[in-house]
Amino acid sequence: MKFLLVTDLDHTLVGDAQATLALNQKLAAMRDRLSLIYATGRSYASARQLKHEEQLLEPDYWITGVGTEIYHQGDRDWVWAQQLSVNWQRDQITALVHAFPDLIPQPEAAQNPWKISYFLQSPLAETILADLRSKLAQANLSAKIIFSSNRDVDILPLGGDKGLAVSHVRQQLQLPLEAMLVCGDSGNDISLFQHATQGVIVRNAQPELLDWYRRSQSAGPDSPARHYWAQSAHAWGILEALFYFQWL
Ligand code: GLC
Ligand code: MG
Repeated sequence: MKFLLVTDLDHTLVGDAQATLALNQKLAAMRDRLSLIYATGRSYASARQLKHEEQLLEPDYWITGVGTEIYHQGDRDWVWAQQLSVNWQRDQITALVHAFPDLIPQPEAAQNPWKISYFLQSPLAETILADLRSKLAQANLSAKIIFSSNRDVDILPLGGDKGLAVSHVRQQLQLPLEAMLVCGDSGNDISLFQHATQGVIVRNAQPELLDWYRRSQSAGPDSPARHYWAQSAHAWGILEALFYFQWL
């Protein structure tokens, strides 16, 4: 059975050059029994640029824009795009967010038709986002709000996040959940862990992911998911997990 490795890029696979290199070597050696997916908040162009700069392996699938875009062998998955368009009112949502001056739009290159992204740096961030959620609900606008690294706000269609995009790809690959390891460090990775799968949270993870992890652990030992907070940071943490879960 093939092994499916799903990893975030920034501050997970990438962040410590030596660790990335060491992991890449291990992955290259097992490439014929590995399906590799990069799941990132970056755009496809920006993620490919990072792959070039960091000499990453070519993945089988790219999940970019926090799960709003899927690419395989250079081709866009248009079924996924169409699915996300259902009940998605981008312009109305953008107009509503105008009433929130603390939300500063991210650069144009970070936006896409199914992802509206802002910066939010305020001690009241959680209150502001709660208010935004209730205003969206009152206006009957369905959307998912993801807050990462105490800075990035992504507004996405309800059916779109990294975890749901991975499920879509996993069905195409016809691989069971047991064959998969997910790896991440921040809020936009939480959805990867919301499936009954093996997962590694790298040591340097952001508080929002660690808080979520601690809450999910207290849900009890019966949870079918097996999540592990690594001793080591960045790609060293992924390597540690490959041994821990006995994939190496
Ligand atoms: C990446 C994206 C940004 C997004 C953030 C968190 O940094 O470029 O648009 O908000 O990830 O998902
Ligand atoms: Mg990250």
